[in-house]
Amino acid sequence: MARITLRQLLDHAAERGYGVPAFNINNMEQGLAIMEAAAACDAPVIIQASRGARSYANDIMLAKMIDALEEMYPQIPLCLHLDHGNEEATCATAIRYGFTSVMMDGSLKADAKTAADYDDNVDITRRVADMAHWVGASVEGELGVLGSLEHGGGEQEDGHGVEGTVSHDQLLTDPDQAVDFVRATKVDALAIAMGTSHGAYKFTRKPDGEILAMRVVEEIHARLPNTHLVMHGSSSVPQPLQDMFNQYGGEMPQTWGVPVEEIVRGIKHGVRKVNIDTDCRLAMAAAFRKVATQSKSEFDPRKFLKPAMDALRELCRDRFEQFGTAGNAAKIKVVALPEMARRYRAGALDPQIGKMTQAA
Ligand code: G3H
Ligand code: 13P
Ligand code: ZN
Repeated sequence: MARITLRQLLDHAAERGYGVPAFNINNMEQGLAIMEAAAACDAPVIIQASRGARSYANDIMLAKMIDALEEMYPQIPLCLHLDHGNEEATCATAIRYGFTSVMMDGSLKADAKTAADYDDNVDITRRVADMAHWVGASVEGELGVLGSLEHGGGEQEDGHGVEGTVSHDQLLTDPDQAVDFVRATKVDALAIAMGTSHGAYKFTRKPDGEILAMRVVEEIHARLPNTHLVMHGSSSVPQPLQDMFNQYGGEMPQTWGVPVEEIVRGIKHGVRKVNIDTDCRLAMAAAFRKVATQSKSEFDPRKFLKPAMDALRELCRDRFEQFGTAGNAAKIKVVALPEMARRYRAGALDPQIGKMTQAA
């Protein structure tokens, strides 16, 4: 069994200079495809479930599915992470169902639509970190509001994201405030705002430094060299997938995502967790459309799902290779939750001190 915490996994990634994609899942086919990709290239895995995924699939189903994946792939360290937790209860119940890591997204209020005050963000994130660390689980916090530097708005297509427009300042995490936030909350990983947003429609042109502020990553990493940074909204929305989706009857206006080479640059500057959902959705949806268009009499769901899983596996494998995750699974000796809890209590995992958990 290899259920790993986010903290241990990202400490390992930091020591060896790689990044880890965090793929969102909602169903068995996604779980299988991600694990097949990981096994094929010996990569540790972060599987994350949003509140939407939890209500779609049911916590019990998700928990048993992850147990099954763990049993099928005992050689692959697997971190189960809550994506965008909105309040303490959401985080606590996730841990109860076997999540080894939770995101407390205090950048927004519990309605997941309104930007929160800094002090409230610190307060709730600190409370969740205290609670999670007692049992050894990890916590990701977020500072700054995710949204487009082109139009100042968040992406609402997933029902999560700031409503209306926010100021340019709020859309870029302040490096000095980041230092204060990490010190005050003791988060294990910090999600930052630098112009990315959720969904397919991130940029209206190939992004440059004006609209994808990679300099913010560099500035924060310079001040917090031992803090693991997280890039949300990091799908690349690859052109071939857009083209395939549209070729088979889809209607996706031309759009641009986060180029993989920019993420790789981020990994050189402390980015350790890279959130990817849209690309996975698009890869599967384009494959569905192809089958639906080319085999109009087909009605066996497996004939749709199999090519979709193939496409997702290929995408995940590519990200594992590009981010340097591949080849690291076998190098990690998983530390169980009780031992992680002991290390937190002993003060050995203070993010400011930045000690590594990994001895293997
Ligand atoms: O946070 C955004 C992820 O893409 C999750 O999306 O809430 O539709 O599952 P979801
Ligand atoms: P994308 O929509 O770019 O895949 O981002 C997903 C994400 O950040 C989930 O938290
Ligand atoms: Zn996100």
